[in-house]
Amino acid sequence: MARIRVLVTRRWPAEVERALAERFDVVLNENDKPMSQAALAEAMGAFDVLCPTVSDRIDAGVIAGARETGVKLIANYGVGFDHIAIEDARARGIAVTNTPGVLTDATADLALTLILMAARRAGEGERELRAGGWSGWRPTHLIGSALKDKVLGLVGFGRIGRATARRARHGFGMRIAYYARHAAADDVARELDAEFCPDLADLLARSDFVSLHIPGGAETENLIDAQAISAMKRGSYLINTARGGIVDYQALAEALSSRQLAGAGLDVYPQEPQIPASLLALENVVLLPHLGSANAETRIAMGMRAAANIEAFAAGRNLPDRVA
Ligand code: 8YV
Repeated sequence: MARIRVLVTRRWPAEVERALAERFDVVLNENDKPMSQAALAEAMGAFDVLCPTVSDRIDAGVIAGARETGVKLIANYGVGFDHIAIEDARARGIAVTNTPGVLTDATADLALTLILMAARRAGEGERELRAGGWSGWRPTHLIGSALKDKVLGLVGFGRIGRATARRARHGFGMRIAYYARHAAADDVARELDAEFCPDLADLLARSDFVSLHIPGGAETENLIDAQAISAMKRGSYLINTARGGIVDYQALAEALSSRQLAGAGLDVYPQEPQIPASLLALENVVLLPHLGSANAETRIAMGMRAAANIEAFAAGRNLPDRVA
């Protein structure tokens, strides 16, 4: 039987690229340049499997390129798939898989990185020092906020939300509240001493730190809009490692500028790699370049997870991480 033809749209860790090349007829993106929409659409007609990342927009036009003989599986490298037109894929009988679980710890680690950096003004401090502006230790210099006994309000309480709560509760003594569609199982709530908050505005009003852990896409677009931001406690912090489109960043910039919010930590943006100018102008926001899953172990595990889905597809087995 002919080997499965696989296109990987960006560079993946070398060990994963090697593993894929051993098993499949793989084309890699040697220079790692993002592919154009036209090139992606063409690839949809020429391969059996497309392996995109969050940096590729797999919209209806791209999916239409699959025609009869093209891609039958989109094996996404990442857990979020709001960059893929899932309904169009489904309508054409194209399966879509993601890589859940393997990046939970890395993303929760980064949420804590942002909480700590925002609370302790680490970005401001480093910028000041590198600019030669540090005049020496003094009791009133760059005073931030403690974490112990502060309320961490999680919007979304899935794998990553709970892993973030675990670190915050057991590592830093924070108190946990969460907003989600349903209350968590008793044992989970007990382990994290987590209080279910069925009303988002209520969670926002009582949290010292709010951290977002919900998927992106139409359902959550602008969930944290100007009104939600104004419902946040005065002097609180907003952390976003989920998706940029969930937050109205213009309204956030205004709240940070007026000091209604003390700070924010952001890893994701609506139109990456563009960063809203209003945020770049502010000192009290930590801005990271989408590093949620960026450690070596996690990036390899993500690739191997995508490979396992392609393997199952090639063998005609059920896809372990099918989302469409
Ligand atoms: C990934 C992410 O690195 O998995 C996700 O949804 O946001 C990131 O941590 C990225 O999506 C890779 O495609």
